[in-house]
Amino acid sequence: MESLSRHRAQIVSTHTPALFEAAVAQAAELLRAGQLVALPTETVYGLAANALDPKAVAAIFKVKGRPARNPIIVHVASVAMARRCVSHWPGLADKLAAAFWPGPLTLVLPRSDVIPDIVTAGGPTVGVRWPSHPFIQAVIRACDFPLAAPSANPSSRVSATTAEHVAKSLGDKIPLVVDGGQTSVGIESTVLDLSTSPPQLLRPGMVEAESLQALIGALVVPNHDAAKTEKEPASLRSPGLLKKHYAPRAKLVVWEWRDDLDLEHQIRNLGYPLRQVQVLAHTRIPRHGELGRVIVMARDPKAFARLFYTELHRCDDTAARLIVVETPPKNAGWHAIADRLRRAAAEE
Ligand code: TXA
Ligand code: MG
Repeated sequence: MESLSRHRAQIVSTHTPALFEAAVAQAAELLRAGQLVALPTETVYGLAANALDPKAVAAIFKVKGRPARNPIIVHVASVAMARRCVSHWPGLADKLAAAFWPGPLTLVLPRSDVIPDIVTAGGPTVGVRWPSHPFIQAVIRACDFPLAAPSANPSSRVSATTAEHVAKSLGDKIPLVVDGGQTSVGIESTVLDLSTSPPQLLRPGMVEAESLQALIGALVVPNHDAAKTEKEPASLRSPGLLKKHYAPRAKLVVWEWRDDLDLEHQIRNLGYPLRQVQVLAHTRIPRHGELGRVIVMARDPKAFARLFYTELHRCDDTAARLIVVETPPKNAGWHAIADRLRRAAAEE
């Protein structure tokens, strides 16, 4: 298949108006021809294809090694375009779009006939999102069709927040990676199912449950304690809710510690040499000893989220065997980060 060429992807920059325009034209041309393009969004990099072309979308599943039952989000550049992808656009969707679009919120609604089966994994609903990143907006406008785009990473691994992350993991499978710099949100969009009543939060993100509730009232939020002990349900409401996801290669644990000695004691109990251990801390920063790397994370959740995946990629690049992340605060704002940590730390 053309889109699975063995050549390395071309990586193009967008940091001048001329480069931006040239990259939009090149990406749109490939997408019109049914090819895949990796491009920046404000959350994480996306692996995009023409959402109306089932063959092009099939290539996404192949390149990512994505299970066929996992539906793909459709990216649009206007409310009008979103409405063409769905068969029913409720008043709640209007309210949410006015408040949060363009931005990191995906709305799950009954699909329309223009959306091929493969995009929805055969299901009756489609996830739609109007991203705020100017590059993907310009490409969607140039193509004048919506873009199916999951995160641009091999299935179940850490999402890409830079073009280098994409090139490293998928660079030999796609023709083009567009470099829009480090993504500004840093973790994936909030996924909200509006096809049920009351609406259900399928994946927490930086558009928080509290903000959604304030706008739309009743909302079903997943129960994490149940998720921890439950087996995977046979049919998944949202496969992004898989227990193990967003995982680095190294083992990841989420711990609290009293002081350096307590932390080292916990690491030794697991049997890892300190030099092969990297620690992401935001409050009790280790100061002594032989740890491989100590990363000081922000105590503000937005700033933490922005760099979190980048730091996990760096841990893998520098051959960490164990990643210890300090338990995040329990208060609002940290919900989505706690969710990603839980899944990254889950056993298979
Ligand atoms: O921020 C994001 O959402 C990024 C950027 C590229 O837009 N995309 C992303 O896509 O994270 P992906 O495929 O890695 O995750 C999409 C999540 C999955 O958990 C999928 O199961 C869920 O959204 N999803 C998509 N369509 C759905 C639907 N119709 N019903 C339920 N869940 C859906
Ligand atoms: Mg993903």
